[in-house]
Amino acid sequence: MKNISLDYSYTYPFIDDKKINSYLDTAFKAMDMLLNRTGRGKDSLGWLDLPEKTLSSGLIGEIEKVSDEIYNNADLLICTGIGGSYLGAKAVTDALLHPFYNSLPKNERKGPKLIFAGQNISGIWLEAVINEINTNKSVYVNVISKSGTTTEPGIAFRLIKQQIEKKYGKKESAKRIIATTDANEGALKSLSDKEGYRTFVIPDDVGGRYSVLTPVGLLPISSAGISINELLQGAKDASEFGKIRNIKNNPGLLYALLRNLLLKQGYHTEILINYEPTLHYINEWWKQLFGESEGKNNKGIFPASVDFTSDLHSMGQWIQEGQRFIFGTTLNIMGADSDLKVPSDEGSPDELEYLAGKSYFEINQQAFRGTVVAHHDGGVPNIIFNVPELNEYYLGQLLYIFEEACGISGYLLEVNPFDQPGVESYKKNMFALLNKPGEQNKINRKKIDEKISKIPKDKVTE
Ligand code: PA5
Repeated sequence: MKNISLDYSYTYPFIDDKKINSYLDTAFKAMDMLLNRTGRGKDSLGWLDLPEKTLSSGLIGEIEKVSDEIYNNADLLICTGIGGSYLGAKAVTDALLHPFYNSLPKNERKGPKLIFAGQNISGIWLEAVINEINTNKSVYVNVISKSGTTTEPGIAFRLIKQQIEKKYGKKESAKRIIATTDANEGALKSLSDKEGYRTFVIPDDVGGRYSVLTPVGLLPISSAGISINELLQGAKDASEFGKIRNIKNNPGLLYALLRNLLLKQGYHTEILINYEPTLHYINEWWKQLFGESEGKNNKGIFPASVDFTSDLHSMGQWIQEGQRFIFGTTLNIMGADSDLKVPSDEGSPDELEYLAGKSYFEINQQAFRGTVVAHHDGGVPNIIFNVPELNEYYLGQLLYIFEEACGISGYLLEVNPFDQPGVESYKKNMFALLNKPGEQNKINRKKIDEKISKIPKDKVTE
């Protein structure tokens, strides 16, 4: 079976063989540091052998027991979480389910409708979630939080729990709420023990943004009827070729090397490009992975993303002719999932008759080829991931390739790719402004008030 391959022809002549060869040793060292667990954040590397371990453990069976129950009995599954406790499940389910999955009739959809909450602090969003709870007969909730104290999912879950208990009573609700959290500690673990929720564990040595292949992602994904076995098999195979010390056989290693070489040439913004709209959240997951892992100590490649060809009609101009510090990474899905063809239209009023009889897949492919050549002409290097098909197996490969590349890339940048100290700053201010009890919050509040008092007051339009 073919693996995902990486085509780097369109990074030439921006970089060349000489540059690649001169950076090889450094890249190998970064890879060794990751695989031998000798670098920074080495206690957060549980994801490295997670696919293999999970496939040979009883965990899949435990997850599938609960997910089968949800798949067969639920009309609606609400996944409550944020960041790494949300994006992986959203990315994989969106990528593999029908584009209008939630709108399909139950007999076609088969599994429950899937909605997400706790990834924002929007009352409008939560009112819509409550409406879904009230209009669907059988509702299950998967509340996902390692710490259990994250504000967004915390205050969303309060409300959801209240509504579910109102609908079913406390005893029945306890059967319908499943928590994914720390094995021993944290507010959600304590609440689950008190209320009798079934729980799944987020391993200590796997950080949020690397947790898609733990129960964090696997339970919601499996509850939607997607094969987690295939997903993990793809990731396991990628972990095998991810050990090869040869850039021609290890796309993750090569990707990490190329993007850092491009950064050295001044290309400090990377745009992840897809041509399938259902991959939108793969881009979002990737942005968190690379953004949170690399953006520290005033370093990091800025991860941006676009959905083509839609965004060619909004961002295309900028990418083609704007400032030259961007490079693209394209997810090229090579196998057609649909053979739908453009129909003929007599008289060709839109002057598009030359496309009649061609498949939409073929036109999309030519759009991709034309775009990559145009952007290359315009001074935008491009890395291409050729993904044989859009299915569980190759998504598993892709997720793992990106995770490994991110670890290597972080080490190449000489940052710790497994922490996220900067995420605390907004929380600190928000807690102070919301008068969270505690001496430190009072001190922080004073600092914020002082800062605000010094900000010019007349710099706003009337
Ligand atoms: O990657 C990360 O660590 C974060 O995105 C977390 O996953 C996110 O903040 C949610 O944290 P928690 O699972 O503790 O609620």
